[in-house]
Amino acid sequence: MANARLTAIGMAVPQKQITNAYFESFLETTDEWIVSRTGIKTRYHTESDEFTSDLCVKAIQNLQATYPEVNLNGVDMILVSTVTPDQPMPSVACRLQYKLSLPQAGALDVYAACAGFSYAIVLAKGLISAGTHRKILVFGAETLSKITDFTDRTSCMLFGDAAGVVLVEADETGNVGECITGASGEGGPDLYLSGFTTEIDGQPLKMNHTIVQNGRKVFKWAVTKVAEQMPILAAKNGLTMDEIDWFVPHSANLRIIEAICNETGFPLDKTLESIVDFGNTSSASIPLALYQGVVKGKVKKGDKIMIIGFGGGLAYAGTVITWG
Ligand code: UT7
Repeated sequence: MANARLTAIGMAVPQKQITNAYFESFLETTDEWIVSRTGIKTRYHTESDEFTSDLCVKAIQNLQATYPEVNLNGVDMILVSTVTPDQPMPSVACRLQYKLSLPQAGALDVYAACAGFSYAIVLAKGLISAGTHRKILVFGAETLSKITDFTDRTSCMLFGDAAGVVLVEADETGNVGECITGASGEGGPDLYLSGFTTEIDGQPLKMNHTIVQNGRKVFKWAVTKVAEQMPILAAKNGLTMDEIDWFVPHSANLRIIEAICNETGFPLDKTLESIVDFGNTSSASIPLALYQGVVKGKVKKGDKIMIIGFGGGLAYAGTVITWG
């Protein structure tokens, strides 16, 4: 049976850097509040004519520059995790199949918000293990600034735009381990983007087509759920948490990462984050954090890396990757 090996990684952000001072200019907020409550110092926003597929193309260019030996010929599936596609149809994955000239590739968008990149890795592993596909591009990419409510001071300073991508290939041994997936669907009304229906479970939705969240409830759910799942995921991979070299949770808020570490006793200095420089980039946040860890030389060959995505749904997924 073939196994899944993550062989290359890349990322991209738009040109336009947004500091906390930008929010001070039109909201009742301060750099001090944003840094102390979220950890975020900067994030990047796309221009009005720049979309998720454009960031994905830049992320691929970065992957190819970082790994010049990588050849995209033979890519047979493109998975794109996003809640901010250029448009609902065609999918971002189909746009990329065309833009990247990958004639043999199937194309599918995955819709699982901040858990989406981890879910897409689970799918890529499944397709490779089933023997139906051998070379898969997995993107986590968002242009959240396009669905941000800039009148909501409790959320608008959080979000950033970015794309991350990994190449997952079939080989004998693989390096993508056992996975977890799950959801707490009753938490749907705590984090949503309105669409057609005007209510969830009898609760009226704010129909403004921007992200609405109950920050405190999502915060508590994230800390409790991720802290509970970490040892379960480690055990599924035959490991204890002591044997995990790097923990890469979704970068929603630095305080969430700190709280998870407090709860579990996992050392904060063995976590990788992308929140401080890039904000909350939803499904892009894990590949961004991982890429930074790799290019800064923190992540070494053989390191055991636990990733766990969590967010809107509410949903979560994770796996353990052995680097190299
Ligand atoms: O990606 C997955 C989805 N999202 C998340 O995971 C988000 C999870 N939640 C969070 O990150 C945090 O809950 C937030 C960053 C959204 C909010 O932080 P918090 O520490 O939970 O603040 P809070 O909502 O409890 O508000 C504390 C105070 C309030 O004032 P009062 O009621 O104590 O007088 C807010 O009005 O801070 C006030 N506040 C602000 N003050 C200055 C809220 N936003 C701001 C702001 N600037 N931007």
